Amino acid sequence: MVMASNFLLFFLLLSLLSTSSSSSSSSSDKDLLLTFKSSLTDPISSLSSWSHSTPLCNWLGVSCSKLSPPTIFSVDLQSLKLSGDISPSLCQLSSLSHLNLAHNLFNNSIPLHLSQCTSLLYLNLSNNLLWGTLPDQISQLSSLTALDLSNNHIEGQLPLALGSLGSLQVLNLGTNVFSGTLHPSLFNNLSGLVQLDLSQNPSMSSVLPDEIGSLKKLKWLLMQSSGLYGNIPDSLLGLDQIEVLDLSQNNLTGKLPPGFGLELGKLVSLDLSQNKLSGPFPGDVCYGKALVEVSLSQNFFAGSVPKAIEQCLSLERFEVHSNEFSGEFPSGLWSLPKVRVIRAENNQFSGEIPESVAVPLEQVQIDNNSFSGKIPLALGKINTMYRFSASRNGLYGNLPDNIFDSPALSIINLSRNSLSGSIPELKNCKRLVSLSLAGNSFTGNIPSSLAELPVLTYIDLSSNNLSGEIPQGLQNLKLALFNVSFNQLSGLVPASLTAGFPASFLQGNPDLCGPGLPKQCNDREKGPRSRTKGLIIALATIAFAVAFILLAFGIFVAYRLYQRKSCSSCLKSVFFYPLKITGDELMMSLDEKSNIGRGPFGKVHLFQLPNGQFVVLKRLVNSQSLSYKKLKGEIKTLAKARHKSLAKLLGFCYSEGEILLIYEYYHKGSLGDALSSSIIKLNWKVRCQIALGTARGLAYLHKDYVPSLLHRNLKSNNILLDEDFEPKVTDIGLDRVVGETSFQSSIASELNSCCIIAPEHGCSEKATEQMDVYSFGVVLLELITGRKAEQQESSEAPDVVKWVRRKINMTNGSLQVLDAKISASSQEEMLQALELALRCTSLMPENRPMIEEVVRLLEALNSS
Ligand SMILES: *[C@@H]1O[C@H](CO)[C@@H](O)[C@H](O)[C@H]1NC(C)=O
Ligand SMILES: *[C@@H]1O[C@H](CO)[C@@H](O)[C@H](O)[C@H]1NC(C)=O
Ligand SMILES: *[C@@H]1O[C@H](CO)[C@@H](O)[C@H](O)[C@H]1NC(C)=O
Ligand SMILES: *[C@@H]1O[C@H](CO)[C@@H](O)[C@H](O)[C@H]1NC(C)=O
Ligand SMILES: *[C@@H]1O[C@H](CO)[C@@H](O)[C@H](O)[C@H]1NC(C)=O
Ligand SMILES: *[C@@H]1O[C@H](CO)[C@@H](O)[C@H](O)[C@H]1NC(C)=O
Ligand SMILES: *[C@@H]1O[C@H](CO)[C@@H](O)[C@H](O)[C@H]1NC(C)=O
Ligand SMILES: *[C@@H]1O[C@H](CO)[C@@H](O)[C@H](O)[C@H]1NC(C)=O
Repeated sequence: MVMASNFLLFFLLLSLLSTSSSSSSSSSDKDLLLTFKSSLTDPISSLSSWSHSTPLCNWLGVSCSKLSPPTIFSVDLQSLKLSGDISPSLCQLSSLSHLNLAHNLFNNSIPLHLSQCTSLLYLNLSNNLLWGTLPDQISQLSSLTALDLSNNHIEGQLPLALGSLGSLQVLNLGTNVFSGTLHPSLFNNLSGLVQLDLSQNPSMSSVLPDEIGSLKKLKWLLMQSSGLYGNIPDSLLGLDQIEVLDLSQNNLTGKLPPGFGLELGKLVSLDLSQNKLSGPFPGDVCYGKALVEVSLSQNFFAGSVPKAIEQCLSLERFEVHSNEFSGEFPSGLWSLPKVRVIRAENNQFSGEIPESVAVPLEQVQIDNNSFSGKIPLALGKINTMYRFSASRNGLYGNLPDNIFDSPALSIINLSRNSLSGSIPELKNCKRLVSLSLAGNSFTGNIPSSLAELPVLTYIDLSSNNLSGEIPQGLQNLKLALFNVSFNQLSGLVPASLTAGFPASFLQGNPDLCGPGLPKQCNDREKGPRSRTKGLIIALATIAFAVAFILLAFGIFVAYRLYQRKSCSSCLKSVFFYPLKITGDELMMSLDEKSNIGRGPFGKVHLFQLPNGQFVVLKRLVNSQSLSYKKLKGEIKTLAKARHKSLAKLLGFCYSEGEILLIYEYYHKGSLGDALSSSIIKLNWKVRCQIALGTARGLAYLHKDYVPSLLHRNLKSNNILLDEDFEPKVTDIGLDRVVGETSFQSSIASELNSCCIIAPEHGCSEKATEQMDVYSFGVVLLELITGRKAEQQESSEAPDVVKWVRRKINMTNGSLQVLDAKISASSQEEMLQALELALRCTSLMPENRPMIEEVVRLLEALNSS
């Protein structure tokens, strides 16, 4: 018996020993990684799983092969706020091929000893604070296929040694402070490169060497703002796999190499903007008339389309603006099947927009050129068009009736052409923000349908030959600009238009009359006609109101009857936290007494739970008629997004007609309230903390939460403040609950929606992170200026974005927009925040920073 148990013990020991010996390599790997960990600063203890008690392959960010014993092939520690030294012990992991330390706070020079990690295939140190020069020893990492050092502060010349990394496929050195020239032989051996990014290194100063043409496999070449000058070399045409070519914002001069269009046949995106390139745009074969006319009648070829045509079919973006190009604009471009963006403004192109344009264009900017001819009917049929601006050209003739038909249309600028005839009615373009037709020869009336465009903000019809009255309905728009000067308008000017704008917007119309104008209206103009009209309107309004009240009463009675009848089992409720109450009890509490306001989606009530805690109840119309199960899934997704800066969604109740969302309540109210309150005074430190928290909350929704969520309705009223003024973002992703259609219309009906929603919202594209970033930018502007997003009573622009933009154009304007309630000692930081806010609210979504960048900048600001 004893023997047997001894034997058993021995056996156990033996097996223990053997497992420990078989894992000996991984235990020494453990030691190596722990040495690495010990030299790091890990402020949020991300690496707490890195301990002897956890099996190595379960450590955060460590991936092992399935071999026995397992070996580590990848260490991936992105976005963990790590800093400190990068210990060379890593390089002793014999099979480490993948090292990613991107998005941390490493503030070192590039560690020399990393060159000992010769097994590395992938090295990503992007988005840190690395400084110093790129050492020659980098050449020892000869197996590397991807090297990403972008977004650091690395300086000095690009070392020739880089050129010996012959296996590289991806090389990203963008957004650093490299200087000096690009040595031609750098590129000789890099023939496997697929992506090369040297963009945003404005301190470089170099010609583009001929040798760039030897990178035969290159698909992405990004060199915007890299200090390039001189000509674009002919050899560039050798890059026949290239898909994205960006050489914008340099000092490139001279003509493009002949054949530029044809040979880069796989191009998806071409950006040569903001250089000094001149001469005609070559490549008649690809972009020119001949081939495209052929391509439109493809049936000619009975199936065998010539290769050259196929080659051009992928182009989506064509940007050559702000150069000195001249000659005929490559007209075939207008018919390439995927082209969405054409930007050629500020050149001297001539030519016409062909009647054959029939592609899904979204953005056309050809201002300040010498285009001529009429605007083709075909243009109005493109229902994806979001922006069409062709000001300062020689376009003539009438506007086609359908010119404003695209439902996505947001910006149209045809000012300073020679257009004539009347302005067509604007019926479909409900998302139009800006309409500029100034400096033409339009005649007839101002279309009254303008008054029905809910987000229209800029109207410039000055210097035409328009006549008749200014439509009274325009008073209902929230305009920031309304310039009708120098026309032949007459009659009474609607009161809010004289009060809200400088008189210069109306000048040059001798027959306009009204208060504040040189000419007073006589009786005929105010006239019996308008008085009876007024009477009719008044009577109609009363009749309408009575009918409405009767109807509302009817519905109320019906609803009460329905409520009495409705069984409690029709109501389902789900609580994500213990609330100790039933859904029915909550429903019963929804009376006038508990009502504390109204949001865009319905009434909001306050309720005290039996334990004394307050909760907020938001009533949403259940318009989407989602099944209970589906809806539960959606709301669960929202409720599971938990973060310090997000308001807690505690649960919900569901009945056929209504959904009740239950949120935590915060006594301090919303940021919107706080900013307009005379009692609560937020100093800059607190405002900065609110901005940072909000940005972190958004970054969590966009980047960390799975599935990633968009807020879609961020504004100061949706940022609640807790006891310590920490922000709690609420009303996240309600589109998922009420459905897209109902979401859109609720948001649009809101008072100040036009001021918080990104302008491209009108575009056909779906909601994006950049739209959230825009809304965040508006909140940041509110924090900086102390002004609400929309200021109705203001005689200046009602919209804080427009107001700020208008002000900062003046001398010392930036200082003037800062909230005067904040002490001048914070001025420096506020100006930095202002710069960030302006980037977030830039009109073009691609110019806005990503939310992570916003967080980083605000963190830097907060700690300074
Ligand atoms: C990086 O470290 C240096 C020296 O330790 C310090 O002066 C500098 O402020 C740091 N930079 C950042 C952005 O933290
Ligand atoms: C490096 O990491 C960053 C941050 O995660 C990522 O965006 C980038 O694509 C990575 N670079 C490469 C070459 O994979
Ligand atoms: C390119 O490769 C050749 C042969 O492998 C080598 O001699 C040369 O030094 C390399 N050039 C560069 C710039 O590294
Ligand atoms: C172009 O060259 C001029 C003069 O050398 C310089 O001042 C300017 O910064 C350069 N512009 C760009 C975009 O590199
Ligand atoms: C028009 O384009 C030219 C370049 O062709 C540029 O110099 C000029 O500043 C532009 N004008 C306006 C008003 O943008
Ligand atoms: C419209 O074009 C004119 C002339 O190029 C320009 O001055 C004006 O700023 C543009 N308006 C808008 C709203 O873009
Ligand atoms: C209004 O239009 C007139 C005539 O085109 C112009 O002179 C004036 O600058 C415009 N005002 C504004 C603010 O755009
Ligand atoms: C405007 O219309 C009037 C009357 O129809 C005409 O005499 C005048 O020439 C027109 N002006 C312009 C600039 O078209």
